[in-house]
Amino acid sequence: MDSLLDTANRVLPGGHFGNMAGLTLVEGQGVHVRDTAGRGYIDFLLGSGPMFIGHAHPAVTAAVMEQVPRGTTFFANNPAGIRLAEAIVDAVACADQVRFVSSGSEADMYAMRLARAFRGREKILKFEGGYHGMSDHGLMSLSPKREANFPQAIPDSAGIPAHIADDMLVAPYNDIDAMLALIEAHHDELGGVILEPFQRLIPPKPGFLAAVREATARYGIPLIFDEVVTGFRFAYGGAQSYYGVTPDLCTLGKIIGGGFPLAAIAGRADIMAHFDRAKVGDDKFLMQVGTLSGNPIAAAAGLATLEVLREPGAYEGVFALGRWMMEGLTARIKDAGIAAQVVGEPVLFDVVYAGGEIANYRDMQRANARYQAHVNRHMRAGGILKGDSKYYMSLAHTQADVALTLDAFEAALACMPR
Ligand SMILES: Cc1ncc(COP(=O)(O)O)c(C=O)c1O
Repeated sequence: MDSLLDTANRVLPGGHFGNMAGLTLVEGQGVHVRDTAGRGYIDFLLGSGPMFIGHAHPAVTAAVMEQVPRGTTFFANNPAGIRLAEAIVDAVACADQVRFVSSGSEADMYAMRLARAFRGREKILKFEGGYHGMSDHGLMSLSPKREANFPQAIPDSAGIPAHIADDMLVAPYNDIDAMLALIEAHHDELGGVILEPFQRLIPPKPGFLAAVREATARYGIPLIFDEVVTGFRFAYGGAQSYYGVTPDLCTLGKIIGGGFPLAAIAGRADIMAHFDRAKVGDDKFLMQVGTLSGNPIAAAAGLATLEVLREPGAYEGVFALGRWMMEGLTARIKDAGIAAQVVGEPVLFDVVYAGGEIANYRDMQRANARYQAHVNRHMRAGGILKGDSKYYMSLAHTQADVALTLDAFEAALACMPR
C-alpha cells in the first residue's frame, strides 16, 4: 500500500487540494495543530481564516454534536440557518437580508450578478490585486504577472473566455483620483463596484472607502464590500463597522460557517429582492439554488462562533495581542536592519519585505519574495505555521504563543540569505 504522501501525489493534481502544499494536518485544538509526522505547530493559518476562535472550540463542537444526530442537510429552511441570518442582519450594517451559499467564491460571483441584475448594466469595477473568489470575473487582475494600463483587466487563469475581460474595469486600490475618473467615465456602463475594504493586507487610506461610497451613491451604482475575510473579524459588524463606511451589499464567509462550508450575500432589501421572483418578476429574477445552502451543521457552528464573539472583551483581547505581535515583529526587523515592515491590522497582518509605502498591489510586488519564502520556511521548521503572506490572529492565541513566534522570527532573520 502507498504511504499517504505517495497516495496524495498519485490521486491529487500537484499532490494537494489546491491550498497549502507539502503539509497534511491531522488534528487541531485551539491554535495548536499537528501533522501526520506528529509535528506540532502554533497555527496562524487557522484554516485560511475561519477558525477565529481556535480549532475544535468546545462551544462549536457541542453545537455541531447536537445537530448531527438530527440530520445533516435538508434542502429546505432549518432553524439554525434562519437564526444565523438573523444574527447577520443584527450585526452587519448593510444587511437587511441574507442569502446563503457554500463558499466565498460563490458569494462573490452572485453578488456581482445581483448588482448587475439590480442596475441593469454589465460592467463591474474592481481593484487590482483584490481577491473575489475563483469565478471567471473574480479572477480578473487578482495577481497579474504584467502591468496592464488601467482599466484593462487581465485574466489570472487558463480557461477563462477572453471576452470576460471586457466586462471588468480595474483600478488601483487606494487611489481616489483614479477611482473617481473611472466612475465618471463609465458610470453608465457599471453594474457595480466590488472591493475588499482591507485589500489582502493593505488597509484603506483615510478617506478612500468614503470616496468610493460617495461616488457610487452619486450614480446609484451598487457598492459591494467583499467581507469574506474581514466579516466578524475586524469587528462584530465587520470592516464596514471598523472603517465606518456602509456598502449596499457585502459577501461573508469563513467565520460565519464556524469551520464548515457556508458563505453569504447580504445587503439592502431592494437589491436582495432580485432573489425573489414574486417581488421582481421573471425578467429581473436572479436564479440561485445550492444543495447545501444554509446547511444546518454549518449554521449551528456559525451561530456558536458568533455567540463566543459577542462575549465582552472578545475583540479587545485579540486586538491587543495582535498589536503586541505587530510591535514585536517591527522591533526585530529594526534590530536586523533589513528593509521590511509590518503591514495590516492587529487581527490580520504580515511582514512585507520592502521599504516605502505599501498602498496597492504594485507596491506589494516590490517585496523580496526570497526573504518571505525563507522566513516562512524557517518558521515552519521551528513550529510556526502561517500562510504565504498572512498571520491570522485568533482569540485562542496567548502571549506565550506570540513570544515563541517572535523568537522564531528573530532566528529566521538571523540567517536571512543576503
Ligand atoms: C476576500 C476573499 N474573497 C473571497 C474568497 C473566496 O472564499 P472561498 O475560499 O470560501 O471560496 C476569499 C478566500 O480566501 C477571500 O479572501
